Amino acid sequence: MKAVAIKGIREFEIKEVEEPIPNAQDVVIKVAKTGICGSDIHYWENGEPKGLIMGHEFSGTVINPGPRQDLKEGDRVTALPISPCLECTSCQTGNVQYCKDTWTHAVGLSMDYPGGLAPMLKVRGDMVYKIPDTMTFEEGAMVEPTAVGLHAIHLADIKVGAKVLVIGGGIIGLVSAMFAKKEGASLVALTETNPERGKKSVSLQAADEWYDAKLESTVPTLLEKTEGGFDVVIECVGNAPAVNSALTLVKPGGTVVLVGVSTKDISTYTVMAVMKELKVFGAIGYIKEEFKTCIDLIASKQVEATKFIDDIVSLDQVQASYERLTSGTDSAVKILVDPNR
Ligand SMILES: NC(=O)c1ccc[n+]([C@@H]2O[C@H](COP(=O)([O-])OP(=O)(O)OC[C@H]3O[C@@H](n4cnc5c(N)ncnc54)[C@H](O)[C@@H]3O)[C@@H](O)[C@H]2O)c1
Ligand SMILES: [Zn+2]
Ligand SMILES: [Zn+2]
Repeated sequence: MKAVAIKGIREFEIKEVEEPIPNAQDVVIKVAKTGICGSDIHYWENGEPKGLIMGHEFSGTVINPGPRQDLKEGDRVTALPISPCLECTSCQTGNVQYCKDTWTHAVGLSMDYPGGLAPMLKVRGDMVYKIPDTMTFEEGAMVEPTAVGLHAIHLADIKVGAKVLVIGGGIIGLVSAMFAKKEGASLVALTETNPERGKKSVSLQAADEWYDAKLESTVPTLLEKTEGGFDVVIECVGNAPAVNSALTLVKPGGTVVLVGVSTKDISTYTVMAVMKELKVFGAIGYIKEEFKTCIDLIASKQVEATKFIDDIVSLDQVQASYERLTSGTDSAVKILVDPNR
């Protein structure tokens, strides 16, 4: 079958690969839709690991149910892409997201479990969830990034009336902003360096207001508007300016949730966290219950996940789609790939 793999820095190749072989542990899925994630973009920009077939946000139909006797060929599913050991203390307390094995064999993020940038994939049976008949495959592929936002919001512990700042208007920032409003925030502001994405965060009703992160006036304006800072800041970028603005724009005693992933070191003035006695959380992935909750929220249309989708493309258009998502000027936030198109 044809798959899209990393070839070099900002470069993909389309190559012929083996179809997944049914086995006792995995469910084999025909991929319907696969989302392109900001984390995938980091791998593509670094050009490593070569040969990696990405795509960890996917939906599809069962080809071979493997260990899952309750599933049959043709069932519509999505899945957590992760590979927790289920035996360590983290797993046993339900915190699969920080098990040391969680990402080592993750679908679309490891070499042994190629992802959804191919017509078929295999995924661990215990990670697969059926999706309701009323749920589209587009919605199914949006469950994973939605769950990332929900997990960040749970850590943020937003009180009704709180003022919340989201830094970064990619899909993770948008769903985090949306959930912050659902939690009862009185103000959800969002900062962006890409004005098209900033405007979109407001027009899609994820954020109440957006501010240009490149303007020097933005920090003083926001400090004045909030009378000294936001109760909660959710950082959804993963670079030094974003992390530093999070520490600057949170109020004393406030909470910062770091969701953005950086592959480079970030220097910052930790004295800001010390002097303000901040609560700083990292947020990684989600737990199984949050993933399931997102299936329910999207299926019941309480979360309109499809409004965030800008385009659906074929495998041949993946390279161009990554370039579009990193242009810094395009309004597109989420592009799905249909590998059987
Ligand atoms: N912790 C997790 O579990 C988890 C899961 C998924 C993604 N991520 C990470 O979260 C981040 C966001 O993911 P995404 O899919 O939304 O990515 P994305 O690349 O689509 O969005 C990032 C946005 O940040 C904006 N930006 C850049 N610098 C900025 C700045 N200084 N201030 C404000 N905005 C700025 C960009 O214009 C872009 O729109 C990425 O680093 C990704 O790797 C983390
Ligand atoms: Zn992702
Ligand atoms: Zn474990």
